[in-house]
Order: sequence, then C-alpha cells, then structure tokens
Amino acid sequence: MKLSLSVLWVLATSINALGQQPIPHNGGEKPNIVVILTDDQDLHMDSIDYMPLLKKHVIDHGTFYKHHYCSTAICCPSRVTLWTGRNAHNTNVTDVFPPYGGYPKFVVQGFNKNWLPLWLQSAGYSTYYTGKLFNAHTIENWNSPHPSGWTSSDFLLDPHTYQYLNASFQRNDQPPVSYEGQYSTDILAEKAYGLLNEGIESGKPFFLTVAPVAPHSNVNPFPATGNPDDALKEIHMTAPIPAERHKHLFPDAKVPRRSNFNPEKPGGASWIKRLARLTDEVIEYNDDFYRARLQALQAVDELVEGVVTRLEQAGILDNTYIFYTTDNGYHISQHRLNPGKECGFEEDINIPLIIRGPGVPVGESKIVTAHTDLAPTFLKLAGAKWGWEGLDGSPVPLDKKGLREAEKERQEHVNVEFWGRGIPEGKNRFSLDDGKIVDYGPNNTYKALRVVGPDYSLYYSVWCTNEHELYDLTTDPGQLRNIYPSSSSAPETTILGIPVSKVLPRLDALLMVTKSCKGHTCVHPWSVIHPAGNVKTLQGALNKRFDKFYASVSASVSFDKCELGYILESEGPQEAVVFREGSGDDWLANGEL
Ligand SMILES: *[C@@H]1O[C@H](CO)[C@@H](O)[C@H](O)[C@H]1NC(C)=O
Ligand SMILES: *[C@@H]1O[C@H](CO)[C@@H](O)[C@H](O)[C@H]1NC(C)=O
Ligand SMILES: *[C@@H]1O[C@H](CO)[C@@H](O)[C@H](O)[C@H]1NC(C)=O
Repeated sequence: MKLSLSVLWVLATSINALGQQPIPHNGGEKPNIVVILTDDQDLHMDSIDYMPLLKKHVIDHGTFYKHHYCSTAICCPSRVTLWTGRNAHNTNVTDVFPPYGGYPKFVVQGFNKNWLPLWLQSAGYSTYYTGKLFNAHTIENWNSPHPSGWTSSDFLLDPHTYQYLNASFQRNDQPPVSYEGQYSTDILAEKAYGLLNEGIESGKPFFLTVAPVAPHSNVNPFPATGNPDDALKEIHMTAPIPAERHKHLFPDAKVPRRSNFNPEKPGGASWIKRLARLTDEVIEYNDDFYRARLQALQAVDELVEGVVTRLEQAGILDNTYIFYTTDNGYHISQHRLNPGKECGFEEDINIPLIIRGPGVPVGESKIVTAHTDLAPTFLKLAGAKWGWEGLDGSPVPLDKKGLREAEKERQEHVNVEFWGRGIPEGKNRFSLDDGKIVDYGPNNTYKALRVVGPDYSLYYSVWCTNEHELYDLTTDPGQLRNIYPSSSSAPETTILGIPVSKVLPRLDALLMVTKSCKGHTCVHPWSVIHPAGNVKTLQGALNKRFDKFYASVSASVSFDKCELGYILESEGPQEAVVFREGSGDDWLANGEL
C-alpha cells in the first residue's frame, strides 16, 4: 500500500498530539466539521423524538452519546466553555450579562485572542459561524471588537437574538441588518447554506457552526440599564414562536408526566425547596409552552436535512463530521419549576449529543462526555498542534475501538457549577409555599458533581447556603429523595452496600478538586488526591484501605457567602487533600503534617 505524504502527515500529527489511534481520514484529507447547536433543548422531555429528519440524517447514521453533560446550565457560560474548552471557573464568564458574563466579559478575559476558531485556522481550516454566539453581543458592540477567527460569519445580535420574528444579523464586517417579520430559523438556514458553499469552495477543510435560537423562549428587547435587577424586571420571555407552517402540529403533546413532574413533596435545596406546587392553570400553560418548543424545533429539523443533503450533493458527506447538540437542557414543571434552566437537575445538564461521520458507529453510547470535551474533539479531528494547552476536557471517542476502550477507562465524572439566580420563563413568576411571588430564585449558586459508574449514578451538590444534596439516580432517577444525612436519626442509606457516611467524604474530596480544577486535573481529578495513580474511580476510592484517610479529612466544600459571580474569597476552602502511599501510617491528609 502506498500512502501519500499528506496521509502520513495526518497520521503522524494525530498520533503525536494524543498518543492515541489516528482517526480515519478519507483520501488523506482533513475532515470537515459541522456543528448544529440549538438553544435550551432538552433530552428528558422527548424533544428529539419529534425530529424525524434529525433521526433520518444524523441519529440513524451515528452515535447518540446518552451521558453528555453541560457543566453550567445557561447559554453564555456554556457557549464560552464550548468554544474555549474550559470550565466556567476557568473562563470566569459565569453569567449572560456583564459584570460576570456576556460577550464583553469574554473579551476582557482575553478569549477573543485565544479560542477554537483561531486554533482551527492555524490547523489549516476555514471557519464559519452563523446564529447566536454569546449574550450581550449586540447591535451596539458587534464591532468593538469583532469576534476573531472566523473566515466568514453572520451573527444574531442582541437585543433581538431571541425575537423569532425580528432578528438582527451581522455579516462579516458589515453593519447589522434587521429581518423584521421574517422567521429567524429560516433566515438562518439560508445563511448556513451560503456559508457551507463558501466552505466547499474555500479549497480547505472547513468548520461550520449553525446556531439557531430554537427552542429558546421568545424574548422582547429590553432596555439595557446595566443593572441586572432591572433587566430581570424588563425582560419578558414567552413561549417560542414556531414557523407559521408548524403551528398546527402535535395538538395533544404534553410535558411527559414522569416521577418528578410537579411532585407532591417539595425537593431540591435553597429556593427550589420553597416552591409551591403548580396549579392546574400553570400546568396547562406549561403544556402549551412545551408544545410551542416542539413546533419551533421543526424548522431546525428541516435545517438539519438541508445541511446534510447539501453535503451529500457536494460529495463530501463521507468526509464530514456532524455534531448535533445544544448549550444546556431545560425543565418545565419538574420539581415544581416554571419553564427554565440554571438548575443542576438531570433535565438541565444531561443534553443531546449526536455525532455522525467517518468511522462513527451507529448506536448509543453510555460513556460520560461533557461540553469541555468538544473543543478537544474538534482539535483532534483537525490534527491541530495548537490550542491544547490547559483545556479542561478530553476528546470524545468517535470509533468502535475508542468507544469500547472508553467504557473501561474513561473518566466517570462531570463538573457542574453555577453562579447567580434561577429565572422563571413564560408569564408566571415563582410561587413560594408561603404565598409569596418572586421574580427569580435567589441564592442559586452551587458546586456539584455528577458521577456515573458501572454500578452507581450519583449527583452531589453543595450550595452557597451550605445545604447539600445527594441523589442516587439508580433508584431515584427523578432526584426526589435527598439522601444526604440530615440531623434526624433516620436509618442510613447505602451506596454499593457502603454507608453514605463513608461515600460522602470521597465525593466531597473529589468535588474539592473538580470545583477549581485546571486542564489535566479536570480530566483526572483522582490523581490529585491519589498521586500514586492507583485510584481512577469512585469505586477505587471506596477501597477500605482509604477509610482512615478519608475519615481524617477535615476541610470540606463550603461557602462563606452567596455571590452572583465567581468571587473566590466567598467560596470556602480550596486545598485538595492528598493521600501519600507508604508514609508512616500509610495515610496523611494535607494540613495534618
Ligand atoms: C425590530 O428590530 C429593529 C432593529 O433591528 C427595531 O428598530 C424595531 O423596533 C424592532 N421591531 C419590533 C417589533 O420589535
Ligand atoms: C441566601 O442565603 C443566605 C445564606 O444562607 C441567607 O442568609 C439569605 O437569607 C438568602 N437570601 C434569600 C433572598 O433567600
Ligand atoms: C471573576 O470576575 C469578577 C468580575 O470581574 C471578579 O470580581 C472576580 O474576582 C473574578 N474571579 C476570579 C476568580 O478571578
């Protein structure tokens, strides 16, 4: 067999970058990458089942990663994580608006000079983007500075981003254009097809992101006073607006009535625990809202078909990876919540990720992946030499062998974090059990961990109020029973037959690492606590041998104060504990030396 020079180069670079198997490239050419990124799409309320064209063109040809997570369940921080490969605690873009977030904060943090599109360009790619990039990227600040790294772009801009019938787009260096009266997703589709043609004609491999706003709420433009409290009062979110041709669809669709649908008992922590049960009137409103989301996704479904058929017509479908995902999940009526996100519940963080492309098998995978892993995945596909330094994720395996190995070896945890408030979307505010009505859920700042092993599935969180949650999702998928030991003398629960009191110090020590991890330690957090490298999973850490060590750990994850942003001084102890093999009694926690 005679390998062309370019094949050898690609093989060499992809092996060198990661010391892993090379990715099959058709004809030795670097593959194209297309990302379709919806906004606020759920995995847990069946929206994917209402997208037959997504099924036909992507799901039926690729892998559905069922344990894919975002780390911060809100648009802007999650998108910054996607395009920088870093957790929000490493970007410090933790909100949608300044001072803690939005496009201006992204720029201030230096990421406009150090992010994915620039890394891909230096790997030889043409790069394209259309749709929503970040919040607070506006018709005023679009050019100060212009987002860097895109060969060609056509961005949706605030304050019209979420107006389905009054979008403002801004192409390359041209001023914003209003599309009053036209349907946002349809305009976006035409722009996507145009950029796709540019990519095909560029003579280079290309990366294209298509980011419609559906099924996000429709949002009226609001005066930006610079005060987030004013913004909360001024912003009116209503159900998403479907295209006229889809408004009649699914007349009987309702939010699935699963165990956590408007539960009889309150649950969660902080403000969530104080929510009143939803009335029939609110439930009916939420069902209408849900139906509008499904209808609004239909234009996205058509766009998926439009993109795939154009790739096929151009003869490049076989050398193109298509990623379908969303920025964060969504809840409606679960846990007594109005429509919205920002929570750590599975509805908000476990989101769709479907990938098709050369060598990607057809089926489902249960390996744990997160949004921090996507930038590394794109870089690996692109054979990039730059951009890897300090990224918080690891590439998602895309072939049979890689997936099989990942089942045994891949990390099992997701870092989950949030700063700020819980915002109700739609016409209803939050009703509390004492009869009060509030504009938002205060004290919605927490650090959490999702851990999914072969025999366990846990969610552990510590709130800025120092409340704790621990859910065992193997027996309680709706996260209704908090098994964190309370002061009451209820009999202790077990996990893997081990009392919760022994499991918790392990989880807490792990959270202490993940909540402020950087790069390698985000992927391999156990290696911080067990530098000998002999512990890679919770199961490993549960070994009796470490009981004394974990029982000796005195510092635990806690907060001094509830903040709306990442204020380090309010976030309690930061030092991880370290187990030292063979030192004296075979265990020593940090600070005990
Ligand atoms: C639509 O957007 C334009 C700016 O792009 C604005 O001037 C106009 O008032 C908006 N119309 C509505 C109905 O919001
Ligand atoms: C937020 O949490 C703090 C600390 O637990 C508490 O003192 C405060 O009352 C809470 N604020 C609201 C608005 O509930
Ligand atoms: C994050 O940004 C905020 C707002 O600029 C700042 O006050 C805070 O100190 C920053 N946090 C860290 C850990 O750098």
